[in-house]
Amino acid sequence: MRHVLAAAAALVLGGCNAHGDGMGHILAGTGIAAREPDYDVPYVPTPDAVVDAMLDMGAVRPGETLIDLGSGDGRIVLAAARRGAAASGVEIDPALVERARRNAQLHALEDRARFSRADLFDVPLAQADVVTMYLLPRINLALRPRLLTQLRPGARIVTHAFDMGEWRADAERLVGDRRVYLWIVPAVAGGEWRVTFPDGRDLQLMLDQRFQDVTGTLGGVAVTGSLRGTALRFTAGGRGYAGTVGEAAIAGDGWRAVRVR
Ligand SMILES: C[S@@+](CC[C@H](N)C(=O)[O-])C[C@H]1O[C@@H](n2cnc3c(N)ncnc32)[C@H](O)[C@@H]1O
Repeated sequence: MRHVLAAAAALVLGGCNAHGDGMGHILAGTGIAAREPDYDVPYVPTPDAVVDAMLDMGAVRPGETLIDLGSGDGRIVLAAARRGAAASGVEIDPALVERARRNAQLHALEDRARFSRADLFDVPLAQADVVTMYLLPRINLALRPRLLTQLRPGARIVTHAFDMGEWRADAERLVGDRRVYLWIVPAVAGGEWRVTFPDGRDLQLMLDQRFQDVTGTLGGVAVTGSLRGTALRFTAGGRGYAGTVGEAAIAGDGWRAVRVR
């Protein structure tokens, strides 16, 4: 199944390179690196300038946990460890895992840069503050439900070259001809809420959520808005509202909501 996905991606990517993705030639079988028939994605390293941009966009801070899915020679993990993160790489190819571990030793980063041989679809993600990926469009899409459900609201996902389908990126940057994308995992705001205002009024807030975008009604008036992690902003009847979404309540700026359903 995996090699069918890679072959399909080869057909798509081999002839379509609006922005450089670094994989077109390899997937078409004409690059310097061989295609690995059993792996989801071939090994193609991210250029250093793109690695730096990915970590900048992910705002990786000392002490945070970063996971690179498909870590290759470990360059993203090592760069994150250099910034003080507790970084780990998951890689299917044992030779690359060994190479990454040697690189970590060479740079005396083995305490903060760890590598495991595993399938990226099997790795628990809940502890990650930042997940980085240089994979393929179909693999990003296959990972999307896990990223949305396992990562905490506010966790960041940074990809090199490929997007996440209808989950619109929160930011994008071009580094040379390479595109870097950032997503911030949204809190779950969809459902029915009871909003209370300081003057004692209370209104029903109904929200439909699609990724970070919300629509719905507040006291029957149309609502549109969006989430950035737990930060919710919406407008209703020409007025702006902002709040922080928790599991069972929203702490608003001058209002409060509790979840009904
Ligand atoms: C395009 S390379 C990216 C390497 C590194 N992240 C970088 O940006 O330099 C993708 C990597 O994913 C690995 N890979 C492919 N399928 C995988 C899987 N199912 N589980 C874990 N790693 C996988 C490949 O061996 C390859 O090293």
